[in-house]
Amino acid sequence: MSLLLKNGRVIDPSQKIDAKLDILIEKGKIAELGNNLDNKAKKTVNLNNKIICPGFIDMHVHLREPGYEYKETIKTGTFAAAHGGFTSIVCMPNTNPVADNQAVVRFIKSRAKEEGIVNVFPIGAISKGLKGDELTEMGELLSNGAKALSDDGRCIQNADLMRRAFEYARLFNLTIISHCEDLNLSKNGMINEGFVSTKLGLIGIPKAAEEVIVARDIQLAEFTKGRLHIAHISSSYSVELVRQAKKRGVNVTAEVTPHHLILDETLIDGFDTNTKVNPPLRGEKDRIALFEGLKDRTIDCIASDHAPHSRIDKEIEYDRAAFGMVGLETSVSVILTKLVHLKKITLSEMINKFTLNPAEILNLDKGTLQKGKNADITVLDLEKESVIETSSFLSKGKNTSFSGLKVKGLPVMTIVGGEIVMDEGKIKSR
Ligand code: DOR
Repeated sequence: MSLLLKNGRVIDPSQKIDAKLDILIEKGKIAELGNNLDNKAKKTVNLNNKIICPGFIDMHVHLREPGYEYKETIKTGTFAAAHGGFTSIVCMPNTNPVADNQAVVRFIKSRAKEEGIVNVFPIGAISKGLKGDELTEMGELLSNGAKALSDDGRCIQNADLMRRAFEYARLFNLTIISHCEDLNLSKNGMINEGFVSTKLGLIGIPKAAEEVIVARDIQLAEFTKGRLHIAHISSSYSVELVRQAKKRGVNVTAEVTPHHLILDETLIDGFDTNTKVNPPLRGEKDRIALFEGLKDRTIDCIASDHAPHSRIDKEIEYDRAAFGMVGLETSVSVILTKLVHLKKITLSEMINKFTLNPAEILNLDKGTLQKGKNADITVLDLEKESVIETSSFLSKGKNTSFSGLKVKGLPVMTIVGGEIVMDEGKIKSR
């Protein structure tokens, strides 16, 4: 099968390309990039006025299978990913059973192969059962396909265990993805600690709960020469800690979610449980610091922390509701609307943070349109307008605070290994 993408504007930060070019795809790979390529392909798609990018990667996704299939399955999660313009997703190990052994990692990979329509890369747990007291068999996780290690959703409290984790992971060149939360400080908290939590009478989570662990893990990464990636960074001081560490040459990277960038704690006023996320939505000063961190490359990636929950997890009292917001089907349009069109970051910077940077952090052979690589491609229409409606989501999770938002700029085509899996919002399933 061959496919020719004609007349699009190709932006590929990995090759410093921003030009009107055609792309020829043959046998699932990028065969040629050039001007006015001859039509040797079986199928031609005219992408005039569209942006052609390397396939977007969401490096922080919860797929919920095995164990919580009522929230999401590998199938529905990959459909949602394709719908949202992602060709690769990286899934967290807080399933049931936990992805802390080769059997679960292999199960996820085989389900993804059978039922998935985008690439799925599992992350293995750092500690057995995410309990924070015994390390997993990291080499075994790696040789069975795990791309990094994380206890995301929980934070390892024992600094000595974290030190050992960095030391072992380093032997395998694996990145440790840290969910930074001191549980003594965040205990029973639901939202950011401050004026809003006091006004609403909800227990607050101080920013320090994140910051002390960001500082600890930077220190441990520096000391062990390990690779650290900070998940869903949310506070201004955390950004500063990463900035300073990068200046010292520490091997640290960071990601931010669209909800921490765009939304703030004042939204919680209506007790809408969709606003309940961990780390919590912060205030305006933190949001601005996150923008600055993205701009000056302190923050390397934008990742959704797609956390689907069912109605029974969310349509309850605020203090009992689950933490999390879905993001696979909103991230790209929200970032285009609120960051790129409002000139907070450039289009090329945005593409970099969804492609090359996550690929490098996770050692994935992705994030580029180089000749010979797998043809994973995301196509954007910057002018297309829409309104976010949860009824159109393919994810089982409808839990988002972006519902009703008017957006400008949408993913309009997702190509995985040379196959069009989404075209103008419609899934083309195998
Ligand atoms: O809001 C969140 N939800 N944050 C996390 O770290 C975990 C996630 C989940 O698994 O639902």
